[in-house]
Formats: sequence, C-alpha cells, structure tokens
Amino acid sequence: MSTSTARLSVNGPRLVADLKALGSIGCGPGGGLDRTSFSAADGEARAWLLGRCAEAGLRAEVDGIGNIVVSPDYDARTAAQPAVWSGSHIDTVPNGGAFDGALGVLAALECLRRIQEERPALDRPVRAVMFTDEEGNYAHLFGSSALARGFSRTELESLTGRDGDRFADTFAATGGDLDAATATKLDPATLHATVELHIEQGPTLEQLGHDIGVVTGIVALGGGVVSFRGRADHAGTTPMNQRRDALTAAGALLVALPEVASSVSERAVVTSGIVTVEPGSANVIPGLARVTVDFREAETDLVDVLQTTIVDVAREIALRYGVQVEFDFEVTIPPVRLDASIQATIEAAAAARELLYSSLPSGAGHDSQNMAQLAPTGMIFVPSIDGRSHCPEENTAWIDVENGANVLLDTLVSLARD
Ligand code: GLV
Ligand code: MN
Ligand code: MN
Repeated sequence: MSTSTARLSVNGPRLVADLKALGSIGCGPGGGLDRTSFSAADGEARAWLLGRCAEAGLRAEVDGIGNIVVSPDYDARTAAQPAVWSGSHIDTVPNGGAFDGALGVLAALECLRRIQEERPALDRPVRAVMFTDEEGNYAHLFGSSALARGFSRTELESLTGRDGDRFADTFAATGGDLDAATATKLDPATLHATVELHIEQGPTLEQLGHDIGVVTGIVALGGGVVSFRGRADHAGTTPMNQRRDALTAAGALLVALPEVASSVSERAVVTSGIVTVEPGSANVIPGLARVTVDFREAETDLVDVLQTTIVDVAREIALRYGVQVEFDFEVTIPPVRLDASIQATIEAAAAARELLYSSLPSGAGHDSQNMAQLAPTGMIFVPSIDGRSHCPEENTAWIDVENGANVLLDTLVSLARD
C-alpha cells in the first residue's frame, strides 16, 4: 500500500467514456433519456453500473430498496470504520438529460477506482453510492429517504408511480422484496461524512464564469396529489350550468398556483407537472382530475404554509365548481444547511487546483438532503450549459466534469484521513 500523500487525480477520459455509455441507456430518438426507477432502462443501467464495478475489482452491495453501495476491496484495516460516502442517482425524469445524478454516481465510481489503483493510506473507507428513485417516481428522494427515515409497509404499499402503477407490483416484478425494503434504514454510526457532486441545473456558475460551486444548503421539498371528483356526463347534452366538471376545477387550481407561491414568499415555487383525467374521452365531462403539486421554499415552516394554502385554495375552488376534493401529501423533506467544515475542504481543494469557485444554495432537491440528517454532508456543483436541466439539452463541458471529479476526489481523500 502506498503511504504517499501525493495528490491523486481522476482519469478524465475514462469518466467521460462512462458518462457517454450510461447516457446511451434509455436514450430516445430525440436525445432525451427515459430511465424511470425500476423501468427496463433503469434495470439495464443498474446492470451496466454493477458490471463497471466488477471490472474495476470493486465490491457492490444492493440494499433492500435497491440502493447500490460500492467499496474498494483493499483496505481491511479501515473497513469497519465509519465511512465517507459519495454518490447520487442514475434514474432520470421523463425525457431528461445525461448529467443529472449520473455525474455524481460515475465521478464517485471514478474516485473509488483511483483509490483502488493507487491505494493511498486512508484512515477510513470511501464508498460510492447510487440511490434509488431520486427523481421521485414513487416518492421524493426515495432511496435516501429510506436510509434516513425508513418506510413502513403500509406506506410502501400505498405508493404509485407516474404511470399509475403500484410500487409494490413494479418492485416485485423486478425481484424486489417488500419486507427487505421495509427493513432498509442506515445506522448513522456507520457514516463519517457524505459528499455529492452534481451539475448546478441553473445558470449561476456559468454567468459568474466560475468552475466550482460550493453548496451552502438545499431547500425544503413538499409534494403530493390533489384530486377533484365531479361527475362524468355527456359532453353534448349536459347544460353548462348543470355540470360538475372535475378538470375545470383542477384548471382553476393550476391558474391559482403562481399566486399561492407569491403569497408565501418571493422565493417559494409551486409546480404542477402531471394532470390525469378520467374517464379521458373528448366527449365525456371529466369525472376525476388529479394534479400533482411540487412546492419548495428554504424554510420548512413556509413549505407547511404552502401546503395549507394549496389546501385552502383547492377547497374554495371545489365549492365553487360543485366538486369534491381530496389530498394526498408526501412527508415534507426538510431543508438542510450543508456542513461548514466540508464546504471549507471543498474550497481548499478548488483553490489548490486553481479553480474559481463560489458559494450558492440549491433550489433542486438532492439525496444529500437526506444524508445530511445522518452525517456531515457537502455538495459540489459544476456549471450547467445555459442553466438547462431536466431536459434533453442538459449539458456540462467535459473540462468541468473532470474539474468537479478532481475536487470530489481531493475532498473524499481529505475526509478519509484524520
Ligand atoms: C430533483 O431533481 C428535484 O429537484 O426534484
Ligand atoms: Mn433531477
Ligand atoms: Mn439530481
């Protein structure tokens, strides 16, 4: 084993090749990626990742909810010590991009490969992790939420995906075991620290001309489904003043959402990204309309206010349109302040590599939000071209990918030494 403290660097071309290879899995004709968690493409991506780990001689373990935790095999001396974790996710939003999450997983894998190759003397182990369903097809930050708080069997059985599928069915079809999923939770005593590399997904770093973002905190995240129940009737014969049109009521809620956000604070955001209608026929008045709501603010209290405001406004609309309304909200994921000492370590790593850096908060949700409840946690951002994300145009320059991965490697090595 080397006892050298010489600085390691990542193998940039290998990391880029991995990003390109993973970016081809689930890629549609328009260049967007569809790798919803537990879909066939997600399964293919997981198998590919496990193959890359095996090729590198790394050990990969899959936990009860499908999170993959990867370890180097060389350092039995430190294996039992609380570990330094780094990772992100490889699931995508529908028609998403090739960098959101994938960068953090593959950069962590590359860091582990370099550690395995060079065998530096470390006082604690470093692990790479791929979290299940960060994009919340079934639940916001699903895999890391399981590690942080666990899910009851009843909760798991009630989860449905974007396509209306039951999580329990889809999970079973991919070989998952609901008892093992229910038992999944991480003992914080096994963790020393966590660090996630991610694309910024906004325009700040590019506009500043900076290479590295040192993330100060992540906003609180709430979400759920609002369902309006009216009455399905004939579109041609039912007079306009005798209808109970669920979709018209849902539409009124959508129109009201910007005002819901601005009534709570300037930085609050509310989004409805899915509307489903039943029975779904051009000549039938909709009897049921479901809209998703995603709402975020830096303060948990204000996320709670966003939720109660949505409830109040939806109830008033339901009354006005003669329909009923029901709510199914997820547990709010609290905001986090990221660890000040890890922020300083990231800054020092960026400065030592003569990279320009600045501090910024994250408006996007990340698994680090959950991991910060278990251990001191940091995040590193790299610039997003044109600030685009959650779309096929999502892109980051290869030099920024390599710079970010090197800053991650320096930070991990530093955290793994006393
Ligand atoms: C994940 O990308 C989120 O912010 O919801
Ligand atoms: Mn995302
Ligand atoms: Mn992400």
